[in-house]
Amino acid sequence: MTDVYALSSVDELGPVLKDYDRTLMVTDSNASKLVDLPSSSIVLPPGECEKRWESVDRILSRALELSLARDSVFIGFGGGVILDMASFASSVYMRGARLVLVPTTLLSMVDATLGGKTGFDYHGIKNLVGTFYPAEAVLIVPDTLRTLPESEFRSGLGEVVKHAFLSKDRKLHEFLIENHDAIMARKSDVLSEMIRLSLEVKIWYITRDPEEKKGIRSALNLGHTFGHALESLRGFSVSHGEGVAWGMHKAFRAGVELGVTPEDFASSAVSLLELYGFDGDESIADDEFSRYLAAIRSDKKKSGGSVKFVLMEGQGLPVLTPLADEDIRKAVSC
Ligand SMILES: NC(=O)c1ccc[n+]([C@@H]2O[C@H](COP(=O)([O-])OP(=O)(O)OC[C@H]3O[C@@H](n4cnc5c(N)ncnc54)[C@H](O)[C@@H]3O)[C@@H](O)[C@H]2O)c1
Repeated sequence: MTDVYALSSVDELGPVLKDYDRTLMVTDSNASKLVDLPSSSIVLPPGECEKRWESVDRILSRALELSLARDSVFIGFGGGVILDMASFASSVYMRGARLVLVPTTLLSMVDATLGGKTGFDYHGIKNLVGTFYPAEAVLIVPDTLRTLPESEFRSGLGEVVKHAFLSKDRKLHEFLIENHDAIMARKSDVLSEMIRLSLEVKIWYITRDPEEKKGIRSALNLGHTFGHALESLRGFSVSHGEGVAWGMHKAFRAGVELGVTPEDFASSAVSLLELYGFDGDESIADDEFSRYLAAIRSDKKKSGGSVKFVLMEGQGLPVLTPLADEDIRKAVSC
């Protein structure tokens, strides 16, 4: 099980990381500005397009140059792109070295550090190559979010709001309503509590289905199937979090239409999305629908040849179900 620690500032990181003997810090040129890096660190260019084999190769080569051993520690310091690649490299180096993650984006704090998914994009397919390899520790420093661009912050908020719906209780939902202004002002103590509540939800799902084989962990894909297809249709000009938030609007609409989702639950969920500026207004025009459907069909979350959507039967009650093309059309066309 991964230990999660919250630190109040990056100054606390140095002493904690010093306790690890023989380390390789992996970061990118944006996240690297947040700390004094050890000289042995590897600094990659930022962005999803760098999440590829050549970058992983550079990490592994540096580990070899430094003569790292199996008990050496790979430290991923950055957003989800860096963490996924550092984790992958650590998982295959000498059949598995030690791994510590320090996420520096909101999305990576609430979504990419727990659950052990590692990987990189291959031949244009996102996360095609990867392993399951949980980190031994995750160090969260909410203070690092101060420098995060607004669009990246919003992208992470989309995932936090998703966790509020999947939670077995309404604690996170209420917290997000009561602390909206402080969250948007990025007050560290409030972000810290928001991240803690959000991670509790993720932990609930991943501990019951660590390798995503029972359909329980797949609930964390709420909004993703609708949303990924929008991201793909719009040439990835829509951020991941925006896509997921839009997808949740559509999942609630489809759920209500099919009698799966109670109207009062859907309307309270939609209010929370709107409070955080995720309006879900964008619609898929008739002449775009066949391309949108093709993007849905290429979604990797297929099971037995059919794409499963996550609909909600109420608070914390996700259900996985295929949808007829006509039901998808109704959900996304208004
Ligand atoms: N392993 C998992 O379970 C999991 C879950 C969700 C997403 N992911 C992966 O995570 C990736 C997306 O992660 P992301 O949204 O963090 O993107 P990212 O890693 O590309 O980071 C977004 C941008 O923010 C910059 N950045 C990072 N920290 C910063 C900071 N504190 N201040 C200023 N700039 C900073 C980065 O350099 C980058 O330009 C995707 O590749 C996705 O597949 C993995």
